[in-house]
Amino acid sequence: ADDDRIARIASSIRVIPDFPKPGILFQDITTLLLNPKAFKDTIDLFVERYKDKNINVVAGIEARGFIFGPPIALAIGAKFVPMRKPKKLPGEVISEEYSLEYGTDVIEMHVGAVQAGERALVVDDLIATGGTLSAAIRLLERVGVDVVECACLIELPELKGRDRLGDRPLYVLIS
Ligand code: PRP
Repeated sequence: ADDDRIARIASSIRVIPDFPKPGILFQDITTLLLNPKAFKDTIDLFVERYKDKNINVVAGIEARGFIFGPPIALAIGAKFVPMRKPKKLPGEVISEEYSLEYGTDVIEMHVGAVQAGERALVVDDLIATGGTLSAAIRLLERVGVDVVECACLIELPELKGRDRLGDRPLYVLIS
């Protein structure tokens, strides 16, 4: 059942203390990628959830949204749109800033990649403070895209990232 698949996925994610900084427990999804069954179960769970939702855009957030987003997009027949760190995309971009604990960061998307009225799923590996996902939602909504849901493998609930997404639904496999 779903719970067995989720338990296998959870147990294939490695936790590394004090990376990249002291006090941070890093959730390392590269060990999940080494386990083809767990990796496939991850994609399948998302595909089963989104295949009949008329989603035509999967927006993946750099870097690990680029690993999980494309197989979901292919399976549900949606296009894949990369949301990147600044100055990586070669065409005309729109940008959205978001706040970090200290300072700010920016994500960018190509102008013309999406059209008003399209229906998007936003994919990343993990939601912590929710700053990244909230900026991705703002970028898409600025150009008139309907953000149907955000999907992550992992949520760190104590950071309350969900609260920064307003009423946009967030679906996670592991909390
Ligand atoms: C991580 C993670 C999310 C983001 C979540 O990316 O993959 O994209 O942080 O944090 P937030 O909810 O507090 O915004 P990271 O900053 O490590 O960048 P990378 O994927 O390029 O390594």
